[in-house]
Amino acid sequence: MIISSATDFREAARRKLPPFLFHYLDGGAGAEQTLRSNVDDLQSIKLRQRVLRGAEQLDLGVELFGERYAMPIALAPIGLAGMYARRGEVQAVRAACHRNIPFIQSTVSVCPLSEVAAQASHPIWFQLYVLKDRAFMRDVMRRAWELGSTTLVFTVDMPVPGARYRDAHAGMSGPNAPLRRMVQAMLHPRWAWDVGVFGRPHDLGNISAYRGSATGLADYIGWLGENFDPGIAWQDLEWIRDEWKGKLVIKGILDPDDARDALAFGADGIVVSNHGGRQLDGALSTAQALPIIAEAVKGKMTIFADGGVRTGTDVFRMLALGADGVLIGRAFVYALATAGQAGVERLLAIMEKDLRTNMVLTGVKSVREIGPHLLAR
Ligand code: FNR
Ligand code: LAC
Repeated sequence: MIISSATDFREAARRKLPPFLFHYLDGGAGAEQTLRSNVDDLQSIKLRQRVLRGAEQLDLGVELFGERYAMPIALAPIGLAGMYARRGEVQAVRAACHRNIPFIQSTVSVCPLSEVAAQASHPIWFQLYVLKDRAFMRDVMRRAWELGSTTLVFTVDMPVPGARYRDAHAGMSGPNAPLRRMVQAMLHPRWAWDVGVFGRPHDLGNISAYRGSATGLADYIGWLGENFDPGIAWQDLEWIRDEWKGKLVIKGILDPDDARDALAFGADGIVVSNHGGRQLDGALSTAQALPIIAEAVKGKMTIFADGGVRTGTDVFRMLALGADGVLIGRAFVYALATAGQAGVERLLAIMEKDLRTNMVLTGVKSVREIGPHLLAR
């Protein structure tokens, strides 16, 4: 199979993965309207084609929180990434470090922070969820800091898991799920061998490291529902802001009032996100929400955006809509599932080339110049 885009990686991942994993990755909440509009609205953004502007020497580099990175793309936090390739988070962090872009590790990763940090040549950004067990949060923040993380990405749009119908159908949750997953694994031997046999242990590494006992994945979605805290409010975050010595990014902002609150709260950045269409079905797409939020807080804090980014052109579009940096979620996991570290590096190379091409065709020399003036109206 010839692979030249994230769409090709998606198809390759679909063939290789047991369905419960493919659909957990690929799916979203409810009727998946927001998931689809993330992709469609972003792809409908039209750019100004400019000519004869001498764009030969291109600068894709960005500075984020005092660090230089090769391009304005980061790998989004993805729970269970370690189920998509053997020790998946380790392979992904190696790819990110090799290409010099940030890697954001999920709280609910398979590999514990210590395992991932040991393989990283750059500091990892750590994503934290609000768990009912506040002692766990304190402990994992301390561990992240000791392992060199200086950026904490605090996700606030998942106080409860959204309704994921595909998960029940595919065996991620629902009746006889463990048995169905076993059968699916047997029918997908390449995955079963790589991850099922050699990718162990399969558990939530950060939680197990804290509890000192394995956190089984038998009922992962159920576990999220039981352990995430729907009672959380801004006041509950104050101790985190006061205790965390590094940079703080609030992920899951979709409304300009919440962006202003995040700024007032003292956050260094936000991620404009609807969790990849996995939470509130019917929420705005991020391509719709981003310009409104940029108008409210651009220049006052670092604005990241994610949702529906599949190509370098989509990265360009997000920057034109007002983002300072862009996170990619599903796209990189399709590549990880297909070919591990090499797959992710290949995807990043494809996106970089795409971004460069677009810069030439719109006549910009530096990614920092990309902004609303490049939107065709
Ligand atoms: C996610 N996302 C997510 N976000 C987060 O803060 N912590 C997490 O553990 C996860 N886990 C997770 C698992 C899977 C399978 C997916 C697809 C997504 C959301 C993720 O970080 C990001 O916001 C979206 O994936 C962005 O949309 P795209 O790029 O996937 O369209
Ligand atoms: C999800 C969580 C883990 O979207 O963020 O499935």
